[in-house]
Amino acid sequence: MGSMHGFRCDPMERVRVGVCGIGQRGIEAIRRLSNIPGLVVTAIADIEQRGLDAGNAKLEKMGKPRSHAFLGPESFRPVADDPEVDLVYVTAPTPIHFRAAVYALEAGRHCAVELPCATTIEECWQLVETAERTRRHLIPLAKKPDVPPGDTDGDIDIHWSHCLMNGLPMDADVYDAATWSCLTELSEKSVSAGSAPLEVPDFTRGRWKDAE
Ligand SMILES: NC(=O)c1ccc[n+]([C@@H]2O[C@H](COP(=O)([O-])OP(=O)(O)OC[C@H]3O[C@@H](n4cnc5c(N)ncnc54)[C@H](O)[C@@H]3O)[C@@H](O)[C@H]2O)c1
Repeated sequence: MGSMHGFRCDPMERVRVGVCGIGQRGIEAIRRLSNIPGLVVTAIADIEQRGLDAGNAKLEKMGKPRSHAFLGPESFRPVADDPEVDLVYVTAPTPIHFRAAVYALEAGRHCAVELPCATTIEECWQLVETAERTRRHLIPLAKKPDVPPGDTDGDIDIHWSHCLMNGLPMDADVYDAATWSCLTELSEKSVSAGSAPLEVPDFTRGRWKDAE
């Protein structure tokens, strides 16, 4: 399977986003995304009707069209299957992140996910394998250290949407997502071993050198 290093898709004139988990982060995401030219929130999902109501109320208040609304614990599935969604944006609680991300990639959607994107090293490898096989972007919603300070969340959204709309490689990709997310299990193992140093897996399988 080809590396996702430097991977680029055909430029997209606009990006239709489905937001999963309309709590504090989800509402803020709807506001930010709706202010970026070329982005449109076309679907929302939550386990609570009040989350869906709040999401569509936010869109209406901003003068945007109401989105498709999906209710339930597996509502990330109809969002990813919605033909009017290009990218699934996951702001649901952590236990949902990995399953929603894999489902979105398998459905042919790009996916942006809050950290941690997965909770075990095995899941991190599965994210890498799925992104490489489906050739879809997995975008961790975190800032790389070399990006200048500013409105962190807004900057991240502007960066990935610019890359998608211009057919450019992502600033942060699935390998970054896996590397950041594997720290949970590594930290637990290190603490159990008396704070022993542990090696961080190379999720690129050495192919980071090709990008030099
Ligand atoms: N709030 C922060 O400062 C912060 C910072 C960094 C990362 N995060 C990440 O963002 C996630 C969300 O944070 P938040 O503060 O918005 O939490 P929140 O509790 O305010 O919102 C979570 C929303 O997800 C919904 N939800 C729960 N299960 C769902 C499911 N199966 N499918 C769809 N929706 C579901 C809930 O009903 C709720 O509306 C956190 O779990 C974390 O992973 C949050």
